[in-house]
Amino acid sequence: MLSSSAQLDGFDIDLTQAPPKQWLPSNVAMHKLDAFSPLPHDLVGKYDIVHLRLFTVLMKHNNPVPLLRNLIGMLKPNGYIQWDEHDHISQKVVTADPAINPKTVQAVLDFVRPIDDMMGPRTWVSALGDIFAAQGLLRTRLYRFALPPELYRYDT
Ligand SMILES: C[S@@+](CC[C@H](N)C(=O)[O-])C[C@H]1O[C@@H](n2cnc3c(N)ncnc32)[C@H](O)[C@@H]1O
Repeated sequence: MLSSSAQLDGFDIDLTQAPPKQWLPSNVAMHKLDAFSPLPHDLVGKYDIVHLRLFTVLMKHNNPVPLLRNLIGMLKPNGYIQWDEHDHISQKVVTADPAINPKTVQAVLDFVRPIDDMMGPRTWVSALGDIFAAQGLLRTRLYRFALPPELYRYDT
C-alpha cells in the first residue's frame, strides 16, 4: 500500500489513451516522454522507484541497454528499477480441450513464425537480470511468473 504522500508520475510517448488529469488522484500525473531519447534534465536523479512494463515489441536491435540507461538516469542514489516483461521466447502452446493436440496448434505458430521473426531476435528478455548487473545495478533479481489459466487468453 503506497502512502498518499507518494507522488506517482506516469510516462508514455502518446497520452491519448491516458485518463484525463481530472480523473486521476491528485498524487498521480501523466507526462509525455520518448523513453528511447536522451533523458530530459528535469528527470535526472528524481525517482526512488522506476517501473517499466511490456516493452518487448518496442525494443530495437535486441538491445535494452539504451533504454535501461535512461531508467537508471531517473533514479535517486539507492533507487530501484522494476521491469515486468513478457518472455516471448519461453511461450508454449496449451489447450483446454484434450481433444486438441498442442502440437497441431504449435505447427500453425511455427508456420507464421517468420512474420514474427521479422521483428528480430528478442533474447534480451530472459537475459535481463544479467543485463541489469552489467550496467552496475546491485542486488538484481529475476522472478519468473507463469500465468494462471484464467489469463491464458490474455496472452494469445
Ligand atoms: C505494450 S504498451 C504497454 C503499456 C503499459 N506499460 C502496460 O504495461 O500496460 C506499450 C506502450 O508504450 C508506449 N510507447 C511506445 N513507444 C514509446 C516510447 N518511445 N517511449 C515511451 N512510450 C512508448 C505506447 O504508446 C504504449 O502505451
